[in-house]
Formats: sequence, C-alpha cells, structure tokens
Amino acid sequence: MTDTAPSKRLFIKTYGCQMNVYDSERMADVLRPLGYAITEEAEGADLVVLNTCHIREKAAEKVYSELGRIKAMKARKADAGGAMTIAVAGCVAQAEGEEIMIRQPAVDLVVGPQAYHQLPELIARAHRARGERLSAEFAADEKFDALPKARHAGGVTAFLTVQEGCDKFCTFCVVPYTRGAEFSRPVGDIVAEAEDLARQGVREVTLLGQNVNAYAGEGGLAGLVRRLAQVDGLDRIRYTTSHPRDMDEALIAAHGEVEALMPYLHLPVQAGADRVLRAMNRGHTAASYLKLVEKIRAARPDMALSGDFIVGFPGETEKEFQATLDLVSEVKYGSAFAFKYSKRPGTPAAAMPGQVAEEVKEERLARLLALLSEQQAAFNAAQVGRTLPVLFERPGRKAGQVVGRSPYLQPVHIEGPQSLIGRIAPVAISASAKGSLTGSLAEDPAMALA
Ligand code: 5AD
Ligand code: SF4
Repeated sequence: MTDTAPSKRLFIKTYGCQMNVYDSERMADVLRPLGYAITEEAEGADLVVLNTCHIREKAAEKVYSELGRIKAMKARKADAGGAMTIAVAGCVAQAEGEEIMIRQPAVDLVVGPQAYHQLPELIARAHRARGERLSAEFAADEKFDALPKARHAGGVTAFLTVQEGCDKFCTFCVVPYTRGAEFSRPVGDIVAEAEDLARQGVREVTLLGQNVNAYAGEGGLAGLVRRLAQVDGLDRIRYTTSHPRDMDEALIAAHGEVEALMPYLHLPVQAGADRVLRAMNRGHTAASYLKLVEKIRAARPDMALSGDFIVGFPGETEKEFQATLDLVSEVKYGSAFAFKYSKRPGTPAAAMPGQVAEEVKEERLARLLALLSEQQAAFNAAQVGRTLPVLFERPGRKAGQVVGRSPYLQPVHIEGPQSLIGRIAPVAISASAKGSLTGSLAEDPAMALA
C-alpha cells in the first residue's frame, strides 16, 4: 500500500538523560523529511519511538511493560485499517539488540544511538516487511532512479528488464525507497521474452535492473547470460546497472567465456575516498573496487569500463575529491556519468552535516568531467586502425550513412547501404571523435577484438 498521507504522526517517548533528549530531537530531524511530525499522543501514531535509557535499575523491564501498552495500540490501529511502526532506540536497544524483537514481536525495529542516521533505511525495511512500498515523500526522480524505457519497436536492439528494486541503501539514493526491495523475474519468462524479441529481428539485448548483477533467478546473472547466449539470432548481450558488491566470480568468468557478452561494463564507484564511500554506505572501498577491476580485466582484457560519480557528497574535502580523480586516473574509463550531489529529502545524506557549497560542487564537477572526457577521447582514439564488428542499427543523419555500435557501445558511422541495418559487419575504424567513431566496411572478415 502506498501511504499518501501528507503528514504522519511520530510519537517519541524519551527516558533518562539530557543526551537522550538531544538524540530524540535528532531523530525527529531525520524523520521530518519523511513526512513525520511530532504528536503528543502515542494512541493512533504512525511511528512510536521509545528512546530508552539503561542507567537506572529495571529500565529494561519498564520498557517492556510500556511496549505491552503500545502493542495494544498497534492492534487497535490495525483493526481500524491503519499501521503503526514501533521502534526501540537508545541504550537499552544498544544493550539488548534484537532480543527485544524476540521478546516483544510487535517491535518493528531496534536502533542503537550510533545508527540514528539509518532510521530512514530501517523504517523502509520495516514497511517493506509489511508489504508497503512507496513513501509519498520520496518523489521519484527520472534522472537518478528510472530504468530506461523499454524500446525495441521494430529495432535491432532492445532493453529487457530482468530485475527491479534495490536493497543497498546508499545514503544519497531514493531508489530503495521508491522502487522497493530487489525482485528478480524468473529465468523462463526472460528467455521467452528474449526469444520473442529475437523473432522480431532484435540482435542485441541489454538486461536491465537497478541492481542487475544482484539478479537472483536460478543461476544468477551469469547463468541467465549463458542461457540467453543460446537464443537463436541473439548475438549480443549487455547488462546495466551493476553494483561492485554483486560482481561475483561466475559473472566475471562469463565475461571471459561467453562470446555474446559484450566487453562493456557500467560499474559505478561513486567516489574514491574510503571515508566518503563508508558515509555513502557503499559496502566497498577504493582498493576493493580497483581489485575487482583488475580481476575483470584479467578475464576480459579489452573490457571498456563506465561508471557513475558523485562530487560534493556531504563532508567531502578537497583531498577526498582528489582521491576520486586518482581512482579515475587509475581505472581509465571508456565513458562515465558524473553528478553533483543533490539532496533527496528523506535519505540519510540529506540530513548529514557538512553539505558542500554549490560553487565547490560546480568546480569539482568541471574538473572530474574534464578528466573523464580526456579518457573517453583517448579510449575512442585507441580504436583507430582496428577493425571492429559493428551492429548496424539505423540510418545516419546524412544520406548514405548508416550508424551502428562497436562492442564497446561506441556509435560508429560509415558510408554504406541501408541493407546493413540489423547486421553485424567488420568496420575498419579510421577516425574518432569524443563521442563516436567513423570508418568504412572492411573487406577482411578477420576482426581483431583482443
Ligand atoms: N545526488 C547525485 N547523484 C545521485 N545519484 C543517485 N542519487 C543521487 C543524488 N542524490 C546518481 C548515482 C547513481 C546514478 C544513477 O545517479 O551516481 O549511480
Ligand atoms: Fe541507489 Fe544504486 Fe545505491 Fe541502490 S546501489 S541505493 S540504486 S545508488
């Protein structure tokens, strides 16, 4: 169910010291962007937080007896068709942890004093457990959370959604809230759709998912790719977007072994400084990402890498930004997307201290983009003199031109017959620009791809 109420009622009961009073205010601050406003009444509240204290004797027992009363209120609210979330915070939560949820199952979440910034994630998870999905306050943002629209309509290439949602909860991102938990379509459905596309003339599919390599259908994404590689007429397979944490050995091995799997990988890293990566809740370090890239390139030496970057994440220092530039210099991307950090209400990062000034973000973005453009131009220039298999997709803007894509997803323009559309043909690359390549049909069918 979608909760569309403009305002949700938050009741916080604070036990103990001044520190707890302060923490309760912080919790209210973190929850305000989620639409929660303080109420003085626990009865009927949407979210009840008991901010507990361990100092006095029998504190825990007092909390359990209070929870008994609140449990009855939760039941009354449920009878009236509503829902109440119960959270236990503070020192008792810290000390007893999940014990509390075992002893009082009406409790939805337990959060220690070090983790208040995770409240939006914990609440989203508790709501998901009840089958709720969208919180009205998280307006979806096409720029950051949309999957590309399905397209093929008679075309040569098509997107095919295999997975949706995200369980990663990067602290800057709305997707886990707006799109909900990770969900994978069954292999059989996907294969049937791919066969249907191939019958319509599609030669290349891009498997889509917000966390596509977390695909949890039988055999994982590697298994799915191997299965789709057997579909008649389907010559090329790509997938996007991947999380470094889900790039498993089987998938890396597939890149070295499955001919149809194209040597282009969008593998966002977001930032190069470990402190920032931790604050982003990315679950990887710069070193583990670089190690992963090394493994991928060992399996597929010509892999073109692409990424997403955020500059000006809260608290990012000049030195930390420099670490992003250093990482980019080391990886050498074929293409990439870079964004200025933008506050998404309700996400933990929006409430973090140290928000970076707009001018600083602008300036860092310009420097990062300059480096990425340089790398893209170098990557494209490195194709000149090679012969690449190009899948032709459409007529070019000028008469007599056809446009296709290289294995590395670069647009390739040549002078040639329109009958090439829908076919893969070798092209001798003669020139490169920042965003595309040009060349001519090669006589020699021996296409060096290594
Ligand atoms: N600010 C800036 N960039 C963001 N992205 C997601 N959320 C934000 C945000 N709040 C970027 C990430 C992600 C891409 C799809 O959008 O880099 O990988
Ligand atoms: Fe958002 Fe991607 Fe992080 Fe998921 S993994 S929270 S979709 S940035």
